[in-house]
Amino acid sequence: MPIIEVKNLYKSYSRRAVLRDLNLSVEEGDHLYIVGENGTGKSTLIKLLLGLIEPDSGEIVFSKNRKTKIGYLPQQTEIQTDFPASVREVVLSGTLGGKRLPLYTARDKKLARDMMEKLNVSDIERRSFRELSGGQQQRVLLARALCATGGILLLDEPITGLDPVATAEFYRLTEQLHSEGVTIITVSHDVSCAVHYGNKILHLGHGEYFFGSSHEYAHSALGKAMLAGGHCHD
Ligand SMILES: Nc1ncnc2c1ncn2[C@@H]1O[C@H](COP(=O)(O)OP(=O)(O)OP(=O)(O)O)[C@@H](O)[C@H]1O
Ligand SMILES: [Mg+2]
Repeated sequence: MPIIEVKNLYKSYSRRAVLRDLNLSVEEGDHLYIVGENGTGKSTLIKLLLGLIEPDSGEIVFSKNRKTKIGYLPQQTEIQTDFPASVREVVLSGTLGGKRLPLYTARDKKLARDMMEKLNVSDIERRSFRELSGGQQQRVLLARALCATGGILLLDEPITGLDPVATAEFYRLTEQLHSEGVTIITVSHDVSCAVHYGNKILHLGHGEYFFGSSHEYAHSALGKAMLAGGHCHD
């Protein structure tokens, strides 16, 4: 049974259609990569999945109780970077999930500490988030997203702004999470790495889309055109 099912989804802004009759399903443990040109609705779909915006029609069905515990990394252009909080506070807030008050348990604190270790930001945990570089902020926000314990991660262009070392670390980390059974949906412009690391691909275009396995995508005309000459670095 799919963990997320998108059925006949339509979304427009001021009568201009962005998503038209979109259908897809995500199984537990999938790593779905969403690729496609600027403005084709990738972030819109992520926001629909999060319930931040409503579709015009169609539906998104989650398997029981999953929706409240999604880890989300927003696209960099949409992040409020003048956030007056410390790195530790930003990461910790990822454990809140459905909770209304910022009351942290010992378990939450340990989780936040572990994720800061994982993303290599422990040494800057007391620094103010707004004083960090773009790449540092990205790593902090990824640690924050990883604190959501429901086992679903939505990552909107997580490697944009990361240096090559941090990018390689990102792929290593998501591969590890994928092998641990975490369900991940990642928006990316790096199609070669998307096919390499993801098991499913959604390619959004203006007016049409492809959804299928990475293997099917790599052998489709669209996939071949996108992958021509490109290689994922490892
Ligand atoms: N709140 C909004 N109001 C009106 N139009 C919007 C809004 N949000 C997005 N759009 C429009 O919808 C289209 C899809 O936007 P979206 O941000 O989903 O694209 P994207 O695929 O994530 O692009 P990018 O690769 O640049 O991040 C764009 O034409 C955009 O201008
Ligand atoms: Mg976007």
